[in-house]
Order: sequence, then C-alpha cells, then structure tokens
Amino acid sequence: MIKISNLHAYYGTIEALKGINMEIRKGQITCLIGSNGAGKSTLLKSISGACNRSGSIMYKDNADISNLSPQKVARLGITHVPEGRHVFPGLTVKENLEVGTINWHGFFGRKPYQKEMEEVFALFPRLKERENQLSWSLSGGEQQMLAIGRALMSHPEVLLLDEPSMGLAPLVIAELFEKIVEINKEWGLTILLVEQNAKLAMKTADYTYVLERGNITVEGPSAEVRSNDMVIKSYLGKFANTK
Ligand SMILES: Nc1ncnc2c1ncn2[C@@H]1O[C@H](COP(=O)(O)OP(=O)(O)OP(=O)(O)O)[C@@H](O)[C@H]1O
Ligand SMILES: [Mg+2]
Repeated sequence: MIKISNLHAYYGTIEALKGINMEIRKGQITCLIGSNGAGKSTLLKSISGACNRSGSIMYKDNADISNLSPQKVARLGITHVPEGRHVFPGLTVKENLEVGTINWHGFFGRKPYQKEMEEVFALFPRLKERENQLSWSLSGGEQQMLAIGRALMSHPEVLLLDEPSMGLAPLVIAELFEKIVEINKEWGLTILLVEQNAKLAMKTADYTYVLERGNITVEGPSAEVRSNDMVIKSYLGKFANTK
C-alpha cells in the first residue's frame, strides 16, 4: 500500500530520520515501536506531509506522495491521527466529526454525511451519547475515540495512528485496541500504528518495525520480532513472557 525508500526528515539542521526503508502492506496492521525521540511521530508526519522530508514514498498505484501537501495526501485517503489527539476543544463531538469530512466535502459542501456519522457512532456508541457535548469535557479515552472517529469521517484507506494508548487506563486501552482491530478487519483499513506500549502493539500488529535514533534496526512479522533478544531486553523486559 505504501513503500518508503531512503526517507530522510529534518527539523532545521537536525536529521530526525536517516534513510528509512519500509513497507506498509494493504489490509494489515503494521506497527512502529521505539523509545522517546526515536523519530516515530516524524515518520508519520513525513507520510502525511507535515514535515520536511526527502526520499520516496510510493502510494498504491506507484504515485510518489513525498512532495505533496498534507491536504493532498489526505485527499488520497491517508489520514493521520496525531499524538495527543488534537480534538477541537470548543467544538461539540458532532462538529469535530463534521470537520473530518472537509477533505471530500469542502467547507460549504452540501453532500450528506449522515451515513458516515452513523457508522462512527455504531463503532463508538459513547460518542453518540455525547454528540452535543463540548470536546474539552470528554475523558482522555473518549477524546481518542473522537480523534479516530474524526479520521474515519474522511473516507480513509490508510490510518496513521500516533500513540493512541498514551495516558489511558489499561481497561480503556484494551477497549480502544479492540476497536482498532475492528477498523482493520471489518472496515478493511490499512493501519500504521505507532506505540510506546511495545507488547500490546506487537500483539495487535501483523508486522513490526523498530526505530532507533532515526534508523530501522529490526523488522519482521510481529511474532518473530517479539522473540528478538534485543527487543526483549530493550522493549519488553520482564513482561516478555507474560500474556
Ligand atoms: N518541531 C521540532 N523541531 C525540532 N526538533 C524536533 C521537532 N519535532 C521533533 N524533533 C526532534 O526530532 C527527533 C524525533 O522526534 P519525534 O517526535 O519524531 O520522536 P518520537 O519517536 O515520536 O518520540 P516520542 O515517543 O516522545 O513521541 C527528536 O530528537 C526531537 O527532538
Ligand atoms: Mg511521538
């Protein structure tokens, strides 16, 4: 679905990604794990067009998207759910979801999007219960659901999820990850999942990449990567053998 070759990304003179090669396969969940500052968010921003980058990012029918603006990338069906959710606090749940349609609907569009909204509400009934509530007053888990719901409103084919579990309680994380799997299996979306929670990410994803200081150091089917000695030592530690 997406093939990345020799990708570099920069913040001024800082080189945050140093020649990344990776493939995100259609219909799969691919995860990217790595410690703080490794460049995980930068990799997602490079795909969605939100930072300076060079190299090639081929999407679907061999179109190179590495020079496109974020708006154009979103219109092609790649939607980024950023780290920290970034819901619009002063808008209601429903209005936040409406914002998600802008890439195909336009600001003054008149096409109906009731069907999309019903589908999101069916996936996250808690959002339906709170449709007229201002988003600042949602819990962290509900805000994450809203951020994902808003992304789903944009007709995506690929979802880029940046640390959806951040700051959430274990039960909420479990519920959220069930929904992520449902979005992959039932909605048929291809997902690139960035996570600090390496154990959960590798349990969920088909294929895993490990990013360290701007380089991919390990990759493979998740079951294999989970038994890699370096990954056990650095990312799983004492939890390696627990379920
Ligand atoms: N806007 C910015 N300006 C300058 N440097 C930045 C900027 N954003 C990120 N960096 C630097 O780029 C590197 C990679 O950052 P990035 O946010 O991609 O890491 P990360 O793996 O997502 O970390 P975390 O797990 O903490 O979210 C870091 O060294 C960081 O300091
Ligand atoms: Mg990050």
